[in-house]
Amino acid sequence: MASEMSLLKPVSKFCPKFSPNTIKPNSPSHFTFKVSSSATTTPITTKAKKAPKQAPKETLLAPRFYTTDFDEMETLFNTEINKNLNEAEFEALLQEFKTDYNQTHFVRNKEFKEAADKLQGPLRQIFVEFLERSCTAEFSGFLLYKELGRRLKKTNPVVAEIFSLMSRDEARHAGFLNKGLSDFNLALDLGFLTKARKYTFFKPKFIFYATYLSEKIGYWRYISIYRHLKANPEYQCYPIFKYFENWCQDENRHGDFFSALMKAQPQFLNDWKAKLWSRFFCLSVYVTMYLNDCQRTAFYEGIGLDTKEFDMHVIIETNRTTARIFPAVPDVENPEFKRKLDRMVVINNKLIAVNESDDIPLVKNLKRIPLGAALASELLAAYLMPPIESGSVDFAEFEPQVVY
Ligand SMILES: [Fe+2]
Ligand SMILES: [Fe+2]
Repeated sequence: MASEMSLLKPVSKFCPKFSPNTIKPNSPSHFTFKVSSSATTTPITTKAKKAPKQAPKETLLAPRFYTTDFDEMETLFNTEINKNLNEAEFEALLQEFKTDYNQTHFVRNKEFKEAADKLQGPLRQIFVEFLERSCTAEFSGFLLYKELGRRLKKTNPVVAEIFSLMSRDEARHAGFLNKGLSDFNLALDLGFLTKARKYTFFKPKFIFYATYLSEKIGYWRYISIYRHLKANPEYQCYPIFKYFENWCQDENRHGDFFSALMKAQPQFLNDWKAKLWSRFFCLSVYVTMYLNDCQRTAFYEGIGLDTKEFDMHVIIETNRTTARIFPAVPDVENPEFKRKLDRMVVINNKLIAVNESDDIPLVKNLKRIPLGAALASELLAAYLMPPIESGSVDFAEFEPQVVY
């Protein structure tokens, strides 16, 4: 956490990340940013260049940046090769993205700064961390979608444009969160983050599973927080949550697009390997969120939520949504699933205590071994729980049509 904070620097009114030069011509200028080298011409970046910067600490639970095999992506979306690509469906999706429902949604007001000034003590620090992690996650989507939009332009202009429009959305989300950090006199150096962060490579098939899940879980997290705060306005301590209702619709649309992409690649959904990988990705995403959030209960309690209850609600809803497209999902509504998650939290807390102890590295490593093994065995046991067979029945008819 501390090393992630090293990415934050005091904000300046010349902050280059909110340049009026927008990424897309139809984007609102308020909250877009540039990560190109041209940003380095501004005073703040020159100053930032001189400041000592550490690479962010990569942990299993930190928000990740992804890259993929773009050549394989081009093949997958070549309409000459893949006859499953439903061009009418993608054209309709493109029109929806072009409509740009949230073009004027992300407009700030003076409530933000006033609310931030009232947040003091540990809650203030936790809010900053929430904004920072959310901004990093949104920005990660921006980078991946932007690159996919660029690389698929020739092969499949419609799919490419949708990716570009999704990167527009993610840029807005990340920019809005970063602007939130400015209420706390901080800004995330996104240009530095782009260069310094390690990128996790996933084959296209795994990119589809991972991004579909992160969009849908993002939708359920945002909408659940929004609904809770609407019903309990006394916990509405920072106005960013009021924007979540429309915001989460962006994430929902992004998820639906990945759903359409996966339908166009039925080989990723209709065999036994797809079932094993689907369950694996669901479990990874749910466990990561649960362990992450259980380390930050003060944030959820600060907005009047019970962390574990909130997470289970999000996991169950995400799993139900995911079951419409993935061929198998974990049985998260089985009480044993939550018991396993809770045991993982206990082990993870012990691991954190070891990491934070003053022991010499050798002793730390020796203490980590049994805890790592215990965590792995809980994970494996959760993975081996009887799954739920799911997915859409119409995939079967796609199977003989795959052309390679
Ligand atoms: Fe987003
Ligand atoms: Fe998204």
